[in-house]
Amino acid sequence: MPAKGEEAAVAHSDVLVVGGGIIGLGVAWRTAQRGLSVAVVDPSPGGGAVRVAAGMLAPVTELQYGEEPLLRLGVASNERYAAFTAELTELTGLDTGYRATGTLAVALDADDRAELRELHAFQARLGLSSEWLTGRECRRLEPMLAPGVRGGLHVADDHQVDGRRLAAALVAACERLGVVFHRAAAAELLTGGHPGAARATGVRLSTGAELSAGCTVLAAGPRSHLLPGLPDGVLPAIRPVKGQVLRLRVPPRYAPFLSRNVRAVVRGQHIYLVPRADGELVVGATTEEQGHDTTVTAGGVYELLRDAHELVPGITELELVETGAGLRPGSPDNAPLLGPTALPGLAAATGHYRNGVLLTPVTADLLADYLATGELPALAADFTPRRFRTEVPA
Ligand code: GLY
Repeated sequence: MPAKGEEAAVAHSDVLVVGGGIIGLGVAWRTAQRGLSVAVVDPSPGGGAVRVAAGMLAPVTELQYGEEPLLRLGVASNERYAAFTAELTELTGLDTGYRATGTLAVALDADDRAELRELHAFQARLGLSSEWLTGRECRRLEPMLAPGVRGGLHVADDHQVDGRRLAAALVAACERLGVVFHRAAAAELLTGGHPGAARATGVRLSTGAELSAGCTVLAAGPRSHLLPGLPDGVLPAIRPVKGQVLRLRVPPRYAPFLSRNVRAVVRGQHIYLVPRADGELVVGATTEEQGHDTTVTAGGVYELLRDAHELVPGITELELVETGAGLRPGSPDNAPLLGPTALPGLAAATGHYRNGVLLTPVTADLLADYLATGELPALAADFTPRRFRTEVPA
């Protein structure tokens, strides 16, 4: 007999989410809250890149030139995080590791300092809250920083969450609301309708079972566009961008080793350290475009340790607990694809690239609104999948 929340006799749902990473789970949870019947297809719900991600929620610190619409989306999601995680905890009793720590971005040499100064000016022009600190002020906040730190930016509203705990809470929340989990791979998108008026009707699983749905949502990260049966031109290629990440442990005698997220650019490479309340210290991340490869390499680990050591020399005293690599789903413009596609009956929630953890609450809310009302909220207007190729498949 199927366990609670497992696939039962249900072959049809209002909404079928393909991909049970945190984006798919968030969409499933929020949509079920709106009274729709929801199913999720994934061999291992709560998996994916979130198992590796550091969970930094840093739309202001990670601001990129020319990406103001993405900033607005990121800030909107960041502002929802405290309530989103509190609601999850209240429903499930599970802690998500959300911590309002703030973030310090520091400069190690004159070039880094000039770059951060530019970023600070850009943040100020956009009305974002960020404070310039001298090297001494940075070390007063974080005494473990290297003596050579020349200054930095303190962003009080950029926080963190523990992605693994968040994923577990989302799975539990979905189960509480009756979301049906099909623990198998999606083998094919099913389409039907008349010639010239095709629509998505559901998916066939690797087990051969067929599931039908009023709307199918593709939330399968860098595999979203690879689902057999998906007509050409509906989704652009989502490229996998590998990130290697380390997990260290701070022994109680060194606590608090760091009190907030710390990031820097070291020799052009971005590095960040995210300290958890339980003593875990996450160090990330490499950025590598080599296809669907999640090998942890000696070179990747070396570079992360070398750069982290330059920033915080004391890390060599800590236990190295875990290494891992995940794949960020990068769309052609590095912004997410949210909402209906050119194929009726098919929506997307994918392509979140570096911002999957940050954008989970806002993605869940926007997709749930669309699925419940048929209207995509204005906040998602810049992120419709139709901004790429928009022809309706025959
Ligand atoms: N958001 C951090 C990363 O993608 O490495």
